[in-house]
Amino acid sequence: MIITPNMSPDMALSEAQSVLKRASLDKNHKMRIFSFSTSEPGSGESSARMVVLRKIIDDSTIRFYTDSRSTKISTLRQNPNCSLLFWDPGKNFQIRLKANALIHHQNGIAQDEWKNVQGDSRKSYTTTLPPGEEINRPEDGHNWDLSSGLQHFTVIDCVPFELRWLQLRKEGHLALRFTRCDTSESWSGGWIVP
Ligand SMILES: Cc1cc2nc3c(=O)[nH]c(=O)nc-3n(C[C@H](O)[C@H](O)[C@H](O)COP(=O)(O)O)c2cc1C
Repeated sequence: MIITPNMSPDMALSEAQSVLKRASLDKNHKMRIFSFSTSEPGSGESSARMVVLRKIIDDSTIRFYTDSRSTKISTLRQNPNCSLLFWDPGKNFQIRLKANALIHHQNGIAQDEWKNVQGDSRKSYTTTLPPGEEINRPEDGHNWDLSSGLQHFTVIDCVPFELRWLQLRKEGHLALRFTRCDTSESWSGGWIVP
């Protein structure tokens, strides 16, 4: 358990931020893989998928990598609203974020992060055919053009405006909600009914 009833909401918020920071720094951390959800503006159809937490910027912006040709990018270009879900099965808590996504493609941030993607990891962003394309045989999806470099490599920064924390406990669950009005790091919030 991480959150306790005698904590102040401010302490709980900073604990949530440190948990995410630790997850971003430790490759074996249980919360390094999280669910990222988007919503189509027209149909309202929503999609969730797992992604890897790469970095936390300014205490709460969540960074991950993707391919510019993936479905999530075309959705985010129309509707940058997204939600992120983290779960720690050992400590029994979830963190939910509502955020706006910033797309970094073929800019300085993408170039800098590309240096951290080495060897076979580059294959995730260099398939000859775009992700999601229909193919006749699985092998047809196993062709890579590593010389294309960072052509499709994309960095997504999720800037959160709401954070919810739910701690499961035998004695009674605990929940908090925080919101941020602007892009400053100033959050407000407190306990809510779990
Ligand atoms: C454990 C795991 C980690 C993943 N990490 C990423 C990731 O960091 N970035 C990414 O774009 N896709 C990642 N994927 C693949 C996505 O879940 C998804 O299948 C892919 O991005 C296509 O999604 P889209 O068509 O909705 O854009 C991961 C999948 C799994 C199972």
